[in-house]
Amino acid sequence: MAKDRQTLASILKKHKTLVVVGGNWGDEGKGKVIDKVMEHFDIVARFSGGANAGHTVFTTAGEKLVSHLIPTGLAQQKVCVLGRGEFFNLELFLKELKDSQALLGHDLAPVYIDRQAPLWTPYHALFETYVELMRGSAKIGTTNKGIGPLEGFYKLRLGPVVGYLYNRELLNKSLATLYETLKPSLEKLQTLDSSVVSLPKPEEIAEQLMPGAEKIKNFVSDTSYFLHQALLQNKKILLEGAQATGLDAWWGTYPYVSAGNSVAAGAALGTGLPVSDIAATILVAKTLPTRVGNGPFPSEMWERQAAMGFAKDHLELFSKGKERDEFLSLMLEKINDGSASNAEMSQYFQVLGDERGATTGRGRSVGYLDIPWLQYAIRINAPTWIALTRFDMLSKVKTIPVVVGYKFKGEVLPAGQIPPPWEMGEIEIVKENWTGFGEDISGISNADDLPKNAKDFLAKLEKLLGVPILLVGTGPAREAIILRP
Ligand code: GDP
Ligand code: IMO
Ligand code: MG
Repeated sequence: MAKDRQTLASILKKHKTLVVVGGNWGDEGKGKVIDKVMEHFDIVARFSGGANAGHTVFTTAGEKLVSHLIPTGLAQQKVCVLGRGEFFNLELFLKELKDSQALLGHDLAPVYIDRQAPLWTPYHALFETYVELMRGSAKIGTTNKGIGPLEGFYKLRLGPVVGYLYNRELLNKSLATLYETLKPSLEKLQTLDSSVVSLPKPEEIAEQLMPGAEKIKNFVSDTSYFLHQALLQNKKILLEGAQATGLDAWWGTYPYVSAGNSVAAGAALGTGLPVSDIAATILVAKTLPTRVGNGPFPSEMWERQAAMGFAKDHLELFSKGKERDEFLSLMLEKINDGSASNAEMSQYFQVLGDERGATTGRGRSVGYLDIPWLQYAIRINAPTWIALTRFDMLSKVKTIPVVVGYKFKGEVLPAGQIPPPWEMGEIEIVKENWTGFGEDISGISNADDLPKNAKDFLAKLEKLLGVPILLVGTGPAREAIILRP
């Protein structure tokens, strides 16, 4: 560990900033990767998304902490920044602050909030419910945190930003305009959804925001200027991505995406740091990618709704015990003798990895390692390194299919090219069986301790991706991560 620390320090010394972004469709383990590198930075800043994110880290006392709005830097008492590109929900922020302080047993280092970040109101939530209803069977399956409306209304130049909390006239006016604009839709929502009994009035919303506004007043600032000054003082900044390449509003699988700029370029847009200040990027890729909500997922093992429902319907398998152990050993046997169905394959990895959303608790559908998708993500993000998480999922698996190509309209697409999202269902995936590693690699933290097959697997993948795999996750615990300089 001490050696890792030194090695990482020397690798990261050259880089004043580091962006960590997701390579798949979220939940890659960005939190865990950030936790590993965070000690080499002074400030951790979020630049996109909002309360839709759920980033898991473990505290030094071993307690699980899932952060949604506050950067995961909170766990190591780093100065935290919620940049302008992060949508702000005051109520959830205060709750998260309180819960995190209670869990950590100490106050957090300062948490700065950008004065011009779009501010959540109950109208954003109601309108999201309305839009999802209007989409019918084509619903996105959002996290219900108002993310689409927060970005959408902002771009329509509608709705308040955080700084309006301290200018009652501006706040009232923007809430009133928002209310009047949305009223016809929200009244229609009331006729369609009996749980929406009344529509809050702008004045009521403003009044409810006031006590919280007072609590955060000293932390609302021009975070872009703050970050810029910090760099001038040779401080180092970690830029924490949320969501992922596949969920980026522009470069993901539209319309089945989130609303923010989740790719590495979003780090500049969402913090106000110039592009030239973005020094290095880690793309976090999940050995077996997952997706929640709807939308294309070429390497998916099973069916989305079935997989998402599976976790809910079989809670007994998701808690440690005899039933889970028996299920896992039976499924592993089937996988290794080649008799597992697609459904069983998915179920095994869902249970093994406890693949349930950190924000909504919905089951995550699992896919095979998807090299063409990652080649696309690499083209868009140009990462300095890859962090491959959940490599331990392949423990004891003898062979595993890996997607090595996308065949589309009869041709295998060149690396970095993908079809438009509405035609992604027509992709024929080209699979190869890769040798797994019979052994259990869970918890290994030293690259030399990996079995030969696992080392070969990484070397082969690295060659195909053309980007060094710097970190490899081997379990949820803090120490279960390998540094491969
Ligand atoms: P994020 O949104 O990208 O930060 O990821 P989440 O925290 O939502 O989900 C990742 C989940 O995978 C969490 O439960 C982590 O504890 C877990 N995790 C992270 N890395 C690894 C790993 O290498 N192996 C295993 N088994 N679990 C991991
Ligand atoms: P982290 O940062 C996984 C998904 C939702 C839905 C789509 C749009 O933890 O990786 P939204 O509420 O953002 O409008 O939903 O995006 N989604 C995520 N899936 N991890 C996330 O964040 C996600 N944030 C949004 O499930 O399909
Ligand atoms: Mg998550």
